[in-house]
Amino acid sequence: MRRSAILGTGFCVPDRVVTNDDLAGLMDTSDQWIRERTGIEERRWVTEGQTSVDLALPAARQALEAAGMQATDLDAIVFATSTPDHFCPGNGVYLQRALGAGHLPALDIRTQCSGFVFGLSVADAWVRAGQFERILLVGEEIQSTGMDLSTAGRHTAVIFADGAGAAVLGPVPEDEDRGILGFDLHTDGDYAEKLWVDAPGSMYHPRISEAQLARGAQWLQMDGRDVFRHAVTKMPESATAAVTAAGYTWADVNLLIPHQANLRISEAVQKSLKLRDDQVYNNIMRYGNTTSATIPIALDECVRSGRLKRGDLLVLTAFGSGFMWGSCVIRW
Ligand code: COA
Repeated sequence: MRRSAILGTGFCVPDRVVTNDDLAGLMDTSDQWIRERTGIEERRWVTEGQTSVDLALPAARQALEAAGMQATDLDAIVFATSTPDHFCPGNGVYLQRALGAGHLPALDIRTQCSGFVFGLSVADAWVRAGQFERILLVGEEIQSTGMDLSTAGRHTAVIFADGAGAAVLGPVPEDEDRGILGFDLHTDGDYAEKLWVDAPGSMYHPRISEAQLARGAQWLQMDGRDVFRHAVTKMPESATAAVTAAGYTWADVNLLIPHQANLRISEAVQKSLKLRDDQVYNNIMRYGNTTSATIPIALDECVRSGRLKRGDLLVLTAFGSGFMWGSCVIRW
């Protein structure tokens, strides 16, 4: 059976830099608190009127260029986001329109922080099944418009941010010994309300009311301690399961890119897997937690800086809202 491989990557973050001191001007927090608890030094937020396409399109174009392809070479789009511009249609539709790629299928998937890993599994399966050959996968989020920027929302507002990362996938012959080797994917809906946005929602009529707005049901809500506790156990568990299923051990792994939830979580994952610093990549200091975009942004930085080289064994692992978590092993 043939394999799929990532043939090109790219990313785009908004120009607007928001420092910890900027946040301290909006809410009761401090640069020291944010650095100590999350490792974040600054993040990027959109300015009013910027859309998902404004971030996803440049990321997609970079990924296409790196893959040596045109938009018209694509057969499908998979768009991972938990923060679509509109309730419907999905962000993939707007990206298809902006790309000028023809009437190709564009599928949105909503698996939050695990969006890129779950999206990769969909794209990989399509390529392997021969249904589509060349697929654009995007992880993109605009979180800044969905956070309570008062002191009441400070435990989430200091963490989440905006950005987009993209990858182009295509088939490679199995004898080339590169490409996506396998996945480990999970969901535990018992924790659905531990990291969620209650409204607007179609179980309400109207989908959001004055009373809901007044109590902040439209803002991202998080039980930070529960998220932390589960993330530091589920990511190492899942990543190890994926590495083992692919027939390797951690000694074989050149690079782990963990979802950039929080630097303390990444450090705990590294410690529990007993990995060296050169085996783990973090960039949350500069971008915050961009949900489904963290992994493809980090991936593009690793590719362009030479941190990830052809032949390397790469592991991606993610954990987030749902709870949903998963991992992927790739021979680069
Ligand atoms: N600035 C200053 N103080 C803050 C603050 C902020 N931004 N956010 C919370 N606090 C305060 C709390 O109000 C609390 O004050 P109190 O003791 O007077 O009640 C104190 O800091 C400790 O709050 P707590 O929530 O217990 O802190 P914590 O040590 O659990 O750290 C998180 C909070 C959010 C940093 C931590 O729980 C975390 O990192 N969780 C994981 C979050 C994450 O990664 N989410 C993404 C998943 S994809």
